[in-house]
Amino acid sequence: MIRQEIIRLIQNSIQGLQKEKRLLKFETPEILVERPEEKMHGDYAVGIALQIAKDVKMNPIKVAEMIKLEAERVCQRTKLNIFEKIEAAQPGFINFFLTKEYLIQQLHKALQEKERYGSSEKGKNKIVVIDYSSPNIAKLFGVGHLRSTIIGQALYNIYKFLGWKVIGDNHLGDWGTQFGKLIYQIKDKGLKGRSQKEKTIFFKDLTIEALERLYVDFHKESQINPKLEEKARNWFKKLEQGDKETKEIWQVCCNISLKEFDKIYALLGIKIDYCLGESFYQDKMKPIIEDAAKKGISRKSQGALVIPLPGSKIPFMLLKSDGATTYGTRDLAAIKYRMKKWKPNLIIYEVGADQKTYFEQLFKTAEILNYGKKEQFIHIAHGLTRRKHGKFSTRKGQTIHLEGVIKEAIEKAGQIIERSETSRGLSKQEKKKVAMAVGIGAIKYNDLSQHYSRDIIFDWNKILNLKGNSAPYIQYTFARCRSVLKKTKAEGDETLLYLANLVIKKKSDRDFNREESELLRMICKFPEIIEEAAVKFSPNLICNFAFDLAKEYNLFYNLHQIIKAETKEKRIFRLALTCAVAQTLKNALSLLGIFAPEKM
Ligand code: ARG
Repeated sequence: MIRQEIIRLIQNSIQGLQKEKRLLKFETPEILVERPEEKMHGDYAVGIALQIAKDVKMNPIKVAEMIKLEAERVCQRTKLNIFEKIEAAQPGFINFFLTKEYLIQQLHKALQEKERYGSSEKGKNKIVVIDYSSPNIAKLFGVGHLRSTIIGQALYNIYKFLGWKVIGDNHLGDWGTQFGKLIYQIKDKGLKGRSQKEKTIFFKDLTIEALERLYVDFHKESQINPKLEEKARNWFKKLEQGDKETKEIWQVCCNISLKEFDKIYALLGIKIDYCLGESFYQDKMKPIIEDAAKKGISRKSQGALVIPLPGSKIPFMLLKSDGATTYGTRDLAAIKYRMKKWKPNLIIYEVGADQKTYFEQLFKTAEILNYGKKEQFIHIAHGLTRRKHGKFSTRKGQTIHLEGVIKEAIEKAGQIIERSETSRGLSKQEKKKVAMAVGIGAIKYNDLSQHYSRDIIFDWNKILNLKGNSAPYIQYTFARCRSVLKKTKAEGDETLLYLANLVIKKKSDRDFNREESELLRMICKFPEIIEEAAVKFSPNLICNFAFDLAKEYNLFYNLHQIIKAETKEKRIFRLALTCAVAQTLKNALSLLGIFAPEKM
């Protein structure tokens, strides 16, 4: 990677200057390599001279010039020929300009590596567990879980592309005191006084909405009659003790919910490796409690069992005062289990920002118990999804039906496609497939295109905007590239690679126009963007990149002839460029979990 190359080059240059005593000794600060926005500042820039100047009490531009000259010498000596120019710029930057040969080489690489372009082996031998989606049984799949599913899956794809071993785990909310409430509603109310036949019908008719209503009703009633809470606690106790009938009811609730969740996963094209819900840890919590006692870490506090945390007033709760286990106990058991089974370097939790404090405490506790180091755990705390007017809320039983929302997106996408000129000639079946890709792509992109920590707005006009920063816009640009390529004889990829080879041989003696050069630089940048997205857990960087690339291609397309280019050489080059742009867009979309149709 160029960044590493530049860091090494700067380090060598500084050492060289120090050896010759032209620079004083100092502690080399971290070298940050940036990608300047403006092309006139080069492809990469380093501001290190500004920092060094302070240490050695010199003029920053002087330091930058010294390093630049030394870097040029090192390049010559080590035969590093990827930079056309290195320059020192005010007030003390060092700018690097890539050679045309290098840019062309990357273009060639994109054409050759195809769907693997941008991937690497950097994560080899590294393991990451991603805890994502994790909806709750007996509740609707909410917009928060949708966000977790979409961002979690994108992170999964990105890490995998970089060579990591990735394990996805859906930490289903299928255990806990809330089930006591539900079972109370079913046993003491729903089934009371019914015949066996009526009972069977009752269960057959149960839907996820009905379950959620039971839950909401419980809360309303328990406000008037606080004794209900006690009853619910007893039911959960029975469940934890393994009572057969209680467990059967619980299982029915799980099955109803899982069927609903699976519908949503199928629509979104999501498959999560494991689905070890909270209930999986039923028998794995006792050892945790014993372990904490043995290590002398847990304390009794007002009847509950807790682990005090240094620097925090609130301790971590292992057992409630009625002896019931907690969400946290199950998370500790999950950490221990994952560490033993997969030995991950990292566990990523893609969960809403409302659980921020909880995860901080969980990670601290896990470290105290010696199950892992704090740095091994990371909470990707996503923001809320809001409606353009008002917010999505399930609290007062005011639920939104996600499946309905997704289907609406597909329908709306279908209408757009029906109106679009480029979709002419698509069969009904094909149009349906495209509508699916566009509708779902639009929803996913809306969740991914902003930094995860920010709240997002759900606004149909923006989501499906064919001209703005949206998935359909990028998909449309991809289809445009493909249509250009199909119009030429250079359809087959092999032909294109052959053409690209010709380009490599001949290209370096001609200048590129602004758009060509910009597209080349962007294609070159793609592998770095993916790495940055992984390090920062930020798929939005890939969205931004894809959007910029699509915009740049459309500009190029509008300003320049491709098939009717002035010379054969230009035509070949522009076709190769088109092919590489298409591939890069497709790879970017695929990392985001978005399908790129050939036509739309
Ligand atoms: N089911 C939980 C909720 O909806 C999210 C679980 C997140 N994962 C975890 N390991 N705690 O709030």
